Amino acid sequence: MADQTKVKELIAKCLQARDMAYCPYSRFPVGAALLTADGSVVTGCNVENASYGLTLCAERTAVQRAVAEGHRRFTAIAVTCDIKDRFVGPCGACRQVLMEFGSEWAVYLTRPDGSYKETSLGELLPLAFCQAHLEKEPMAGSP
Ligand code: THU
Repeated sequence: MADQTKVKELIAKCLQARDMAYCPYSRFPVGAALLTADGSVVTGCNVENASYGLTLCAERTAVQRAVAEGHRRFTAIAVTCDIKDRFVGPCGACRQVLMEFGSEWAVYLTRPDGSYKETSLGELLPLAFCQAHLEKEPMAGSP
């Protein structure tokens, strides 16, 4: 759990990021803001495509951008959309992509008025497949 000032900043930035969403097909804007271990905030929005399947979610846009800028350690993410009466969680694909960078970070499901519910990646994706499962013994006969 990040300190309250940082949480407020994260919430404000994910709301701003949602305004940048490129979503002419779904008209469902999403914003995300990642908090890195060094205290920086990296944002993302959904970027849709005419060939629908190439659409990138806000959370994954933020992760790709953060990694490209040199960040690999994250402590929290805030996510928001336009739904006012519920806390909406990241889609399954985004949960898996976030899991690549650990399970012990906070996820703030944020409503348009700035209210939020805190959960964690481990809670959102229990028993996840991750890097550790690939650390196996070499196959018999391999050099
Ligand atoms: N979307 C996200 O950006 N994040 C999610 O976790 C779920 C869905 C986007 C993808 C698409 O542009 C729109 O929301 C409707 O699915």
